[in-house]
Amino acid sequence: LASRIVPFAPTTDMIISSCTDYRAAAQSKLPPFLFHYVDGGAYAERTLRRNVDDLADIALRQRVLRNMSELSLETRLFGETLAMPVALAPVGLAGMLARRGEVQAARAADRKGIPFTLSTVSVCPIEEVAPGLSRPMWFQLYVLKDRGFMRNALERAQAAGCSTLVFTVDMPVPGARYRDAHSGMSGPRAEWRRYLQAMRHPAWSWDVGLFGRPHDLGNVSAYRGRPTGLEDYIGWLAANFDPSISWKDLEWIRDFWKGPMVIKGILDPEDARDAVRFGADGIVVSNHGGRQLDGVLSSARALPPIADAVKGQLAILADGGVRNGLDVVRMLALGADTVLLGRAFAYALAVGGEAGVANLLGLIEREMRVAMTLTGAKSIAEINVDLLDREG
Ligand code: FNR
Repeated sequence: LASRIVPFAPTTDMIISSCTDYRAAAQSKLPPFLFHYVDGGAYAERTLRRNVDDLADIALRQRVLRNMSELSLETRLFGETLAMPVALAPVGLAGMLARRGEVQAARAADRKGIPFTLSTVSVCPIEEVAPGLSRPMWFQLYVLKDRGFMRNALERAQAAGCSTLVFTVDMPVPGARYRDAHSGMSGPRAEWRRYLQAMRHPAWSWDVGLFGRPHDLGNVSAYRGRPTGLEDYIGWLAANFDPSISWKDLEWIRDFWKGPMVIKGILDPEDARDAVRFGADGIVVSNHGGRQLDGVLSSARALPPIADAVKGQLAILADGGVRNGLDVVRMLALGADTVLLGRAFAYALAVGGEAGVANLLGLIEREMRVAMTLTGAKSIAEINVDLLDREG
């Protein structure tokens, strides 16, 4: 499985065979504040660790001698065919991890035949990422106080051909992320300049992507209180995200958006039932990768009761702690229909750009094949609770 990645920094010239390797390489390549922005979580990071540990603790039943020479990883979701039941999660500021980072990650996903989700807080604008992809991109929207901004973003996503709206509801306020607080989301100027030069990044400022010219996402350039520097990022989120949001406020979005709408950030079966009542096409079982309310259930533990409550009534997507193809199969066995990758692809993007993400997705696919072969599941439809080792 090993392949040699030679990233720009000599210190990260190492054999890459897993997401763990990508994380280590990303740590030596990125300026520390940027690595910690990706790697960190809220408060004491308990939920962040539980996401990884609880999923890794899920034991599957080993089955043998079932002629596993033909496997199919393909699946259908919202009328689309996915080469495997995996999509890239929205990751804000991913464009800082590599030059035009969202474009590079989207291309890698596209080549692999899986969806890419562009975050509201992307560096590259919708119009730069969507063209050139062979399949429609997904678009993620946050709840902002300025509903005009939200409507404008939706119009632009629709005009660019985005198929699915991922509406994130678990960030009415930003979580307390101590690593970002310590770094101030910034580093020594010299370190920052060296990084930008090394990645041949155009002098980076908020005047890219969502927040202004030349890649202007409409009225946000005139948006009161838009951040003037990265140091303002968390403060800007706190000032402009909207804690007053309720299911009622979502109705205009559901009526406005023509494609499937997925509610991201569901952790409780009652909220999952509400999503069904609301008419959502899907949910993402997620605690935002442990970046919001520390101490809440890991996704691996939250997922089974949610699947019991709503499986079959809408699509169940899940994320949190997925670091390899075996984890993907575990999430599917716990009740997910499709799994999102967050940090896993972010580390790979930081290390190897498009090639890094493509390589990671190749690793995930091969690891899924191994897990399916050894559990006797020939297709995605055959991955279900029966694969779980209840004693494990
Ligand atoms: C995120 N996540 C996120 N979610 C979202 O809806 N919009 C966003 O802009 C972001 N931004 C973001 C940045 C970074 C650096 C991370 C790590 C995460 C959450 C993301 O979509 C996903 O829910 C988690 O990353 C899943 O957990 P894992 O896979 O990272 O463990």
